[in-house]
Amino acid sequence: MKRYEIKHLLKEDVSALLDTSINIKGWVRTKRGNKNVAFLAVNDGSIIHNMQVVVDLANFDEELLKGITTGACVSVDGKLVKSQGQGQAVELQAENIILYGTADPDTYPLQKKGHSMEFLREIGHLRPRTNTFGAIMRLRHNMAYAIHTFFHEHGFYYFHTPLITASDCEGAGEMFQVTTMDLNNLPRKEDGSIDYEQDFFGKQTSLTVSGQLEGELGATALGKIYTFGPTFRAENSNTPRHLAEFWMIEPEMAFYDLDSLTELEEEFIKYCIRWALDHCMDDLEFLNKMVDNGLIERLKGVIATDFVRLPYTEGINILEAAIKNGKKFEFPVFWGADLASEHERYLVEEHFKRPVIMTDYPKDIKAFYMKQNDDGKTVQGTDVLFPQIGEIIGGSVREESYDKLTARMNELGMDRKGMEWYIDTRRYGTCPHAGFGLGFERLMLFITGMGNIRDVIPFPRTPKTAEF
Ligand code: 4AD
Ligand code: MG
Repeated sequence: MKRYEIKHLLKEDVSALLDTSINIKGWVRTKRGNKNVAFLAVNDGSIIHNMQVVVDLANFDEELLKGITTGACVSVDGKLVKSQGQGQAVELQAENIILYGTADPDTYPLQKKGHSMEFLREIGHLRPRTNTFGAIMRLRHNMAYAIHTFFHEHGFYYFHTPLITASDCEGAGEMFQVTTMDLNNLPRKEDGSIDYEQDFFGKQTSLTVSGQLEGELGATALGKIYTFGPTFRAENSNTPRHLAEFWMIEPEMAFYDLDSLTELEEEFIKYCIRWALDHCMDDLEFLNKMVDNGLIERLKGVIATDFVRLPYTEGINILEAAIKNGKKFEFPVFWGADLASEHERYLVEEHFKRPVIMTDYPKDIKAFYMKQNDDGKTVQGTDVLFPQIGEIIGGSVREESYDKLTARMNELGMDRKGMEWYIDTRRYGTCPHAGFGLGFERLMLFITGMGNIRDVIPFPRTPKTAEF
């Protein structure tokens, strides 16, 4: 018997299949009914909605029926008919049922609805079977697809940067080391320091915090590239917005300046949000109902509005004025301070009430590669700040001058050894260029309305947690 996915049966024109026998397979979400008939809600993951299966109890073995409980996996042959009941256009009148796998009601943890997100994190191996996580994971796939489509349509090449690297792009020292050395018996040099020459790569290596530096190599050859892959940060931040392993999208463009950079940032994010509204309405409606009833309105609002361009110095002025008017912040505000998320959210949610692209930050709170302004104090960095999220994108115009870049590296005490390949981009045919990094899970937080970044990635890695 031909198997159909439930999405096909509920979303396509299936008039030709009506009153014929077909097969579906999936997991039982609920079973209800009376002495004569049972109604199974079967979900196969292809769509948030279930197929209603009507089981005439007289036609089936009692033992088989007993095994069909919430969580069980079934294959059902049946006649597709117009539904008598409300809520679905078609339903299946069961003719034959194979029970692939039972789910003991005494131990299956997804028995009842309305589990807390904390509890679901503990059963992360089963939580994709809930409606909420099904919706989130389908959206996650769609966003990844939208991102590749956007860049392909805009003439970018997908450029694969390495995950194992010997350089610290952000210079924050938050890297996970990669080694095959025996940690209980480390080879040492005469002065007592560890002899990395004996390690697998012959030098000290780590998991990358960003593909940008290698991305710049791509952009200064191919013109426009993007990366989309996992990145790793050993920062001990236990917040609802930080992961130790997260996915980042990093476009890098030759011949872009601050204006074309911020334009691309805005256009790109809006494209992703529009894609979700155009292609994922069933899942968004579910999340809007169950998780955050301002979600769809907020998504529509953001694509309809222009993002603010705000130099850092003006942002500080606004925050200082707010403090004078009685606004209380936990962290101090002064020129030179790295803004905390409470400051970013004040600007976005209370002051401007729309997304803000902050630019021209003090050089001392930004990475070494950012283009230096003529004032000697600020650099052409950009952070895109979003309602609910705070920073969703970090990017900059890159310093293309060999002299200025190397002077800044010296100032910061950076070792040129191991970075010569990067400096070569400025030595040979240097060009103005710019790029940014979008945290994929931060985007997913915004798209789904979820409150915790641990709930928008299948298997979150955070300090002291690496389950599954
Ligand atoms: O601002 P960040 O550190 O910028 C860079 O890494 C640049 N090299 C990007 C570039 O210009 N190509 O990180 C970029 C974005 C942040 O805006 C945030 O969305 C996300 O990555 N991000 C995190 N997401 C989840 N967990 C973390 N620990 C994150 N750290 C950064
Ligand atoms: Mg940043």
